[in-house]
Amino acid sequence: MSDQLALLGGPKAIREPLPTFLEYAGRTFGREEEELVLRALRSGCLSRNGGVMVAALEREFAARLGAARAVACSSGTAAVHLAVAALNPEPGDEFIVPPITDMGTILPVLWQNCVPVFADVDPETLTIDPDDVERNITDRTRAIIAVHLAGQPCQMAQLRTLADRYHITLIEDCAQAYWAKCDGKLVGTLGDAACFSLQQSKHITCGEGGLMVTSRPELADRAGLFADKAWPRDSKDLGGARFLFLAQNYRMSELQGAVALAQLPKVAEVAQRRRQRALLLTEMLANVPGVRPPTVPVNTDPSYWLYMLHIDEGAAAVSTAQFGEALLAEGVPAWVQYIVKPLYLASLITELRTYGNSQYPFHPYGRQEYKAGLCPQAERALNHVIAIHWNENYSESQVEQIRTAIVKVARHFASSATARRPAK
Ligand SMILES: Cc1ncc(COP(=O)(O)O)c(C=O)c1O
Repeated sequence: MSDQLALLGGPKAIREPLPTFLEYAGRTFGREEEELVLRALRSGCLSRNGGVMVAALEREFAARLGAARAVACSSGTAAVHLAVAALNPEPGDEFIVPPITDMGTILPVLWQNCVPVFADVDPETLTIDPDDVERNITDRTRAIIAVHLAGQPCQMAQLRTLADRYHITLIEDCAQAYWAKCDGKLVGTLGDAACFSLQQSKHITCGEGGLMVTSRPELADRAGLFADKAWPRDSKDLGGARFLFLAQNYRMSELQGAVALAQLPKVAEVAQRRRQRALLLTEMLANVPGVRPPTVPVNTDPSYWLYMLHIDEGAAAVSTAQFGEALLAEGVPAWVQYIVKPLYLASLITELRTYGNSQYPFHPYGRQEYKAGLCPQAERALNHVIAIHWNENYSESQVEQIRTAIVKVARHFASSATARRPAK
């Protein structure tokens, strides 16, 4: 293999394009999905109200995860909204969130007229830092939303202790972390409620969709109603009892339910294959100067939605952005610096663009200044990380090629730096 970077005209380290989540080769669809979709179509009813697929998905998902109830809905964002709305919070209540996540974690807080309060992350795992969560708790805090980023579980025991001590709710955002474990238990069973996304890129998918799970019946009941206009379908007395409170239509269709139901038995193996490939790469990257595999605390077992490659710019003798650009040119699919900036620097938040010009609910309830420096660890970490797209269908040879690409790029910049150094 030539040492010449693909960026400079050399051959790519990745010989054939890797499977991606946007195509059949990078997903786990098969006969099972086809059969259930056909069964749904042939039943003639594609709405969950009258159909059987979505109801079966809810039962099966809760049973496999080990939670009492699951409520299916139209997206991961909707699932977070179900968890938030199930608490029936007061306007101005505060939800402590991490700044590195998808905006889908935060939008529901705002739609429910509450304010996000950003707590910093652990710079190694990029998950919310329990100590900073505690510093941000006030008498208006309603819940913590713990995001298991890139498949890496948060430190749930510490967060649970805080939630219990301060009588606040603990919501898990598991959109990126199906079947990851913390202290030997599946994430999604460790908080009061948990949210999953079935969007195209996730461990299992039906294109778009979501699931909110909980073992607290009152939260499940309210979430189920919230997803269906607060219309108690099973009630015989529909007169005055129709439309019980302000809610949404977040219903999942039977076609989505059929695909997700067929995906469900595959999720444990998908997580296991992602884990096995990721650990292989981690092993292969030992002692490559300038790069560091994801840090995995011993009490956690991630399920690797992404593979977070840390760049030590001093040792690598190059910026993370340049390193990432060279890796992309080699054919490694990645987001350089993941979401680039923490979410509190998105214009929605810095300019308080919400309902008309009201700035509501930031005005009058917000108390943080959404500007650079709010969460320094998150800002620093984002500047030093390359999020390699991970896939259960990578072969060992493809993982080897990713390693070759990383080593090639690392060596190139290290040797250019040596060549530039003046002789003593
Ligand atoms: C951590 C996290 N939360 C929430 C969401 C929102 O999910 P969806 O895109 O299905 O609305 C995502 C989606 O990427 C996510 O990664």
